[in-house]
Amino acid sequence: MNPVQIIRKKRSGGVLTQQEIESFIGGYVAGAIPEYQMSAFLMAVTIRGMEPEETAALTDVMLRSGTTVDLSSLPGRKVDKHSTGGVGDKVSLILAPMVAACGVPVPMISGRGLGHTGGTLDKLESIPGFTTALDIEEYVRVIRDTGLVLAGQTAEIVPADRRMYALRDVTGTVESVPLIAGSIMSKKLAEGIDALVLDIKTGNGAFMQSYDDAVALARALVGIGTAHGKETVGFITDMNQPLGLSIGNWCEVVESVECLRGKNVPDLMEVTYVLGGAMLFLGGKVTDIADGITQCRSAIWSGKAYEKFLQVVERQGGDISFVQDASKYPPSRFVIDVRSTVSGYVTGFATMQVGLLALELGAGRVRVDDAVDPKAGIVLAKKIGDRVAVNDLLARISTDREKAARDAAHELRSCLTISPSPVDQRPFIYAYVSKDGVTPWTTPPTY
Ligand code: URA
Repeated sequence: MNPVQIIRKKRSGGVLTQQEIESFIGGYVAGAIPEYQMSAFLMAVTIRGMEPEETAALTDVMLRSGTTVDLSSLPGRKVDKHSTGGVGDKVSLILAPMVAACGVPVPMISGRGLGHTGGTLDKLESIPGFTTALDIEEYVRVIRDTGLVLAGQTAEIVPADRRMYALRDVTGTVESVPLIAGSIMSKKLAEGIDALVLDIKTGNGAFMQSYDDAVALARALVGIGTAHGKETVGFITDMNQPLGLSIGNWCEVVESVECLRGKNVPDLMEVTYVLGGAMLFLGGKVTDIADGITQCRSAIWSGKAYEKFLQVVERQGGDISFVQDASKYPPSRFVIDVRSTVSGYVTGFATMQVGLLALELGAGRVRVDDAVDPKAGIVLAKKIGDRVAVNDLLARISTDREKAARDAAHELRSCLTISPSPVDQRPFIYAYVSKDGVTPWTTPPTY
């Protein structure tokens, strides 16, 4: 089939057939369709959208671009989590070892930074020596040995997503329900899971800024998972400020390790515990999510979740001495404190802007082949609801780029709204989504 005709059909709002999608994606993976035609296709899909049957076909074709891992010989129900992406979203780094420490195996295939959001792979690879490029045999060995594996798409596992994801990152084609659904679900269906928990972010730092768009994406994701026989549930969670305090790669690992060692960062840990509770529930370890949350909390307090993290880092080649002692990590050339010039309360964040500033500091990519600087990032000192006095520290910026440091120091202050009186704290989690529908969520009092 002529790729130009397929692009033109989608550009003018047509509904593509399974064969057309197959021919286009297959041609791209085989090297017959160049990056510029795929870029045009992605833009046409982003602007025109896709019907549910096109999204299902896209997911299927992406999934079949590589091998599906079979973990059925390993005991227990394998459960994973995936987020639609946010700023400072380091949940996976805490959640995966915490759930594995509770006895539910977690096979996790993640992505790199996308748009203004960070990616689990870049964060993990900021640990010296850590490798996420595992072949299938090694992937299976790691989960068999540790109950957990943290890997990326490869030439064997969803190669279509690996390349489309990198291209979407630099072509303004991330914010699309069918492309996000295809990307997430192809990875999740390939990794050998029995069940899946999704974190669908909404707010000014999310790809789905409106609640209704987030619900539409959640329904699409849950529908695809359910249609493939995987028990799939989702939570709609808040992304109107960075999650936790750090935004970058190594600094997010540091914050995650602190939480694994018992620090309570309220928004980050509430989301982590609720998603973990749901994973234990789907994994058959507990009778309800509240019980799952209790077990997750005890995995943190007993130190078992942290031990599990050290185990998987070592198993995947990482140097655990940096995890044990973050002060060993080389500092950035420029470290700048941003202080407040006014007093009041933090009432809002320009969250996407904060993510973009982190990217400019070196934490993300502007071009496909850009290297990320693992040290670059922003550590916030204030969050929504916090009181601020003149000269209080708002954030610390780290980067090797002198001009970016100066620009970010100047712009970051305007990313925080500081008002004379406080605002009510938004919920961290809005709703629970399953095949039965969407229901408002209230975190159980066990938290
Ligand atoms: N996470 C993914 O894996 N893909 C997307 O498109 C967005 C978030």
